[in-house]
Amino acid sequence: MSVLRTEGLQKHFGGISAVADCSIAVEPGEILGLIGPNGSGKTSLLNILSGFLAPDAGSVWLAEEVVTGMTPVQLARRGLLRMFQMTRVFTRITVVDNMLTAGLALGLSEREAERRTESLLDELALAQVRYLDAGQLSGGQKKLLEFGMCFIEPPRIALLDEPFAAVHPVMREAMAGFIRRRHALGQTFILVSHDMPIIVDLCPRAVCMNAGRVIASGATRTVLQSAAVIEAYLAASADV
Ligand SMILES: Nc1ncnc2c1ncn2[C@@H]1O[C@H](COP(=O)(O)OP(=O)(O)O)[C@@H](O)[C@H]1O
Ligand SMILES: [Mg+2]
Repeated sequence: MSVLRTEGLQKHFGGISAVADCSIAVEPGEILGLIGPNGSGKTSLLNILSGFLAPDAGSVWLAEEVVTGMTPVQLARRGLLRMFQMTRVFTRITVVDNMLTAGLALGLSEREAERRTESLLDELALAQVRYLDAGQLSGGQKKLLEFGMCFIEPPRIALLDEPFAAVHPVMREAMAGFIRRRHALGQTFILVSHDMPIIVDLCPRAVCMNAGRVIASGATRTVLQSAAVIEAYLAASADV
């Protein structure tokens, strides 16, 4: 059974069709790449999947349960977790306290939250900055902290919206490594990225959107080579 599935999702903003008749499915343990030119509806789709936006039509299933219209908190409790294009950490508390707060919010005991915090901060190379306020971290370190917060209780599915954007290449590799290790442990993801080499490397399968619609899906290399996808990217770059 798919971990996450949508059928006929639609979302309009005035005259703009941000998501149009979108049906996708994510299988257990897969990293599904979600690509498409700017404005093609990727973030809107993730907003709907994570409960930040109500669709005008269509349905979302999390495993066997219809979750359309549920709030982000209800979805997080069911194991659907979303990382934003803009990093969200608490800037005025320490790195450790950010992690503990996430752990406690996800229902861990204090002792377990502390144990996982230590191991994740080591893994993410954040142990040395653990007592700094998160606001003092670099952009890449904040993003790594956000990964730690999301994975302190591994979700059923993690939705990542451009985690590599504007991040130093060293940090980008650290994040890709983290995603690879979690994937090896069976973690399911949707990964939105403009970084095609990373998409090819991490995602065996990809879906490409354009103007709200799914225009191609399948093996990532095949999708990237499809005429519809090439045309969509060329048209988008001609607009700039
Ligand atoms: N809150 C909003 N209000 C009005 N239009 C929006 C809103 N969010 C997104 N859009 C529009 O919906 C379309 C899809 O945007 P988005 O989902 O952000 O695309 P992507 O993430 O692929 O760049 C764009 O035309 C965008 O301008
Ligand atoms: Mg976006």
